[in-house]
Amino acid sequence: MNKASNTKRRQLVVGNWKMNGNRCVNAELLAKVMTSWQGEHRAEVVVCPPYPYLQHTHELIAGSSILLGAQNVSEANDGAYTGEVSAQMLADLHCKFVIIGHNERRRMQGETDEQVAQKFMAAQRANLIPILCVGESLEQRENGQHLTVIGQQLQSVFSHTGRAVFAQAVVAYEPVWAVGTGKTATPQQAHEVHHFIREQLGEVAEVVRILYGGSVKAHNAEQLFALTDIDGALLGGASLDAEEFLKICKAAD
Ligand code: 13P
Repeated sequence: MNKASNTKRRQLVVGNWKMNGNRCVNAELLAKVMTSWQGEHRAEVVVCPPYPYLQHTHELIAGSSILLGAQNVSEANDGAYTGEVSAQMLADLHCKFVIIGHNERRRMQGETDEQVAQKFMAAQRANLIPILCVGESLEQRENGQHLTVIGQQLQSVFSHTGRAVFAQAVVAYEPVWAVGTGKTATPQQAHEVHHFIREQLGEVAEVVRILYGGSVKAHNAEQLFALTDIDGALLGGASLDAEEFLKICKAAD
């Protein structure tokens, strides 16, 4: 399934490996993926390994069309921030993308909307493409607050940057209740939120890629990709399995 004929936006599949893998496992995974994903494709594919494996992953994907991304970035440019990694460092390590405000960081590391906005700006200062994650908790959805919450998450970035800079950014809708749970948003739920996000993007709405994330697997990817406002996927578990990952990349291609 592809929508290349009816949208200007290139489909994008991002594998967020989270805190998984090692040199051996990563090499095996990418060798399998690259055997079936050679040359140029309509869909763009990005892998986001943990920080220590960025350089190794860069070497493994050299010569392929697969691009490199990171899972997080510091909002600061440099200085006394023990354990942090700057956007300039990620760019220096050949990253093109960086995930910002993933719900696991918002929930487990207490990242605030304001911090997420600062990270978004830090990424853009280093010419990285931020993948801004937004999404509601189960409680917020059950209370009918999902659009309000997502609107606030977007607004906190817009209030610093305006909307035009989103022409060089990606937004990912990840409902917290769908991440790692095996529950996926229904096409209707995903459509409602993606359409809402696109409306919020104002003048650049038509060029911004909006990904869906949360238990995307080979068996449900095509149905999600068929929706006009879904421009690809942000994958967790499925990106660790070469066969599953490839099927999803091909569904987006
Ligand atoms: P799962 O695909 O494992 O649900 O994870 C989604 C995610 O959090 C990607 O960033």
